[in-house]
Amino acid sequence: MTPLDQVNLSELPSKNTRLEQTRLLLQEALTSFEPGRVALSFSGAEDVVLIDLVQALGLKVDVFSLDTGRLHEETYQFIDTVREHYRQPIEMLYPDPAGVQTLVKEKGLFSFYRDGHGECCGVRKVAPLRSKLAKLDAWITGQRQDQSITRGNIPLREEDTNFAGSSAERQPSALIKFNPLSEWTSADIWNYIREHEVPYNALHDQGFVSIGCQPCTRSVGPFEHERAGRWWWEEATKKECGLHSQNIINVVQA
Ligand code: ADX
Ligand code: SF4
Repeated sequence: MTPLDQVNLSELPSKNTRLEQTRLLLQEALTSFEPGRVALSFSGAEDVVLIDLVQALGLKVDVFSLDTGRLHEETYQFIDTVREHYRQPIEMLYPDPAGVQTLVKEKGLFSFYRDGHGECCGVRKVAPLRSKLAKLDAWITGQRQDQSITRGNIPLREEDTNFAGSSAERQPSALIKFNPLSEWTSADIWNYIREHEVPYNALHDQGFVSIGCQPCTRSVGPFEHERAGRWWWEEATKKECGLHSQNIINVVQA
């Protein structure tokens, strides 16, 4: 039996709020695996809400973040603020220097505007994530269904078939991906942040909503969708960077 089979969320009392459901799921995620075999993938507002909830439950979580080398100064400040505010160690993961060097030597520093973001994200984000996930049985993300058309179906937890093959040790057991905020809306997140005085990235006060790397993120105007500020030169259906490309496969199959 895999940890995925242990709790059937459909059996949860329907009166449970989304918040209670999230707490239960976090509890499951953080108590079903050996120490060091589950971690939270951290980058933005949703992920701090998760850290806040974990601490309120009296639990601990390992946290990592992918430093692509192209993040905004404000994002680095934010990561440090979270570290201090919650006394939460954050493991920064870096791309392989040789991979970055080759890409930049051959294609320059802004190849993503011309060739699409896949190659650069592959070197700077996906490869380090793959190495990290090879050492885990489960990971926790802050993805939400209303973030994007590619995320409309993301479940609270799923088998991560995309990265499952990243570890010979783990086979044949599944790599579990928890998305405890999948059913939260953007408004839910921001209500929680205000109510609990959760620190957030200063860029949000400058019109940025969804924040990634500096060259691939811009602020959005009134009534623009939050993902309109990410890789704005590409079609909405391609706006996954490989961390969550399983979402694109799921959309295509649906
Ligand atoms: S992205 O794939 O388009 O960049 P997005 O910014 O929406 O993802 O974030 C969704 C979730 O992916 C976050 O809540 C977080 O769990 C994870 N994530 C995104 N970027 C990073 C990063 N740089 N480091 C670690 N986790 C990340
Ligand atoms: Fe490269 Fe842009 Fe992807 Fe960051 S978001 S890794 S800069 S393509």
